[in-house]
Amino acid sequence: MSTTVAASPAWTIPDYLEVSDEHLAINGTDALALVREHESPLFVFSAPRIKRNIERLRKAGESVQHPIRFFYASKANSNMAVLKTVLESGIDVEVNSGGELFKALRIGFRPDQIIFNGTSKSAGELDDAVRAGIYAINVDSIYEIGLVEEAAKRVAAADGKLVNPARIALRLVPEIGTRSHLGLQTALLTSKFGISSSEVLDAFRRGLQNPDLIHVCGIHIHVGSQTPDVEPFAEAFRSMWEHLVKIHDETGHRLEHINLGGGIPVNYLRDRSQADQLPEHERDMLGADLEPSAVLAEALRVARESAREAHAEHVLEHTTIVLEPGRSVIGDAGLVLTTVLNMKQRPETGDVWLLTDAGYNIMLSMNNYKWYYHTISASRAGEPHDSEYKVAGPLCDSGDVYFDIERCGRLPDYRKLPANVQPGEVLALLNCGAYSLAQMFHYNGRPLPAAVLIKDDGTPVVIRRRDTYDDLITNDVW
Ligand SMILES: Cc1ncc(COP(=O)(O)O)c(C=O)c1O
Repeated sequence: MSTTVAASPAWTIPDYLEVSDEHLAINGTDALALVREHESPLFVFSAPRIKRNIERLRKAGESVQHPIRFFYASKANSNMAVLKTVLESGIDVEVNSGGELFKALRIGFRPDQIIFNGTSKSAGELDDAVRAGIYAINVDSIYEIGLVEEAAKRVAAADGKLVNPARIALRLVPEIGTRSHLGLQTALLTSKFGISSSEVLDAFRRGLQNPDLIHVCGIHIHVGSQTPDVEPFAEAFRSMWEHLVKIHDETGHRLEHINLGGGIPVNYLRDRSQADQLPEHERDMLGADLEPSAVLAEALRVARESAREAHAEHVLEHTTIVLEPGRSVIGDAGLVLTTVLNMKQRPETGDVWLLTDAGYNIMLSMNNYKWYYHTISASRAGEPHDSEYKVAGPLCDSGDVYFDIERCGRLPDYRKLPANVQPGEVLALLNCGAYSLAQMFHYNGRPLPAAVLIKDDGTPVVIRRRDTYDDLITNDVW
């Protein structure tokens, strides 16, 4: 591959994101050729990168010499081809709705490879999960334990039998803060999730009441997404571990797994050339480079210490650790290619505006969390990115901009791109694989973009066809 600059830009990743003949290349495929063939805007995913990310997790699991299972958090991206790639990589899946359960089963995950999370599961969703006999339904309240029991009774009545009691895990909310955005923190008592520490024992007693209908198999916490430090994970693990030991001592019931949730971060600031415009805490969070092996090692160190003190090493030995990684599997394995359609210069401010075809309807977190996606020119990837532009999307909404319109400094005011960008130039927003495609919507009557997956052999295949205008009205009745 001919690299056209002496030193590769900091965003490059060997054999994945590179500069080739001045253009951005993704696993060797020319980004501009993709846009020519599949139009703009376009999502591009990399199967080799997904697999490499999963391999990194698996190696982390092996490094701690303890039974570990990874359940990919499919809400991060549940495109069927992405799910298939994850399935082929040999890990399991976590779902958050009947729809995601349907997709996971349809693509071929076995029921014992599936965990179902969520605060408000419907009777129909619980029936589906119980009937399928999945690995765990994570219940969010004591009340929901009763709902699962009802579902088990309904399934038994409808099918003439319940093959196995429904397997449940209790989701806890132990009041653990992280240095991520407040909206991404889920282990605080002010968050909507889980059962508080003071209720845990009651929840277990309730869960053990009808063993013919339900089996309590685990305990769960998700501290939040993009968690930059190991401490919250270790604290969460200690909390769950201590509950597990207490339950074992009091009831003799042995839980099979502790589920530490997701939250392993992605480094969004591999290229820090614009990071100086962001506040320090934002830089720390977005640029976190936490190794999953460090998370597991610290969680186990804490648990082993506590197990020794409680003479409960034998209990720990038989407890599988579950992780639900989403972002760390798919975040840096996807990007958005977008074309500059319009430009203007404001005489009063001197700002040069680039108006693209990628709005927040395809990257919601850039709007609601002011999430930073490093932006480069895919047309001139090897040139110095040292000219400042105001960049904005196509929506008729003043919030559809690539900077923080509320001036809270959560996004850089200007994006740095090569000099003299003109309409027709293709830009790339990097690290857009997680929580983007999954959150797209038709605002402003905009057909949703296509997505392409670069396969292991370097062939690009369409994994989501571009919407047509007919797709915009397909569910409307008039
Ligand atoms: C319960 C649960 N598990 C796993 C995840 C995945 O988190 P992440 O994508 O940060 O790994 C989430 C996301 O918020 C979640 O709510």
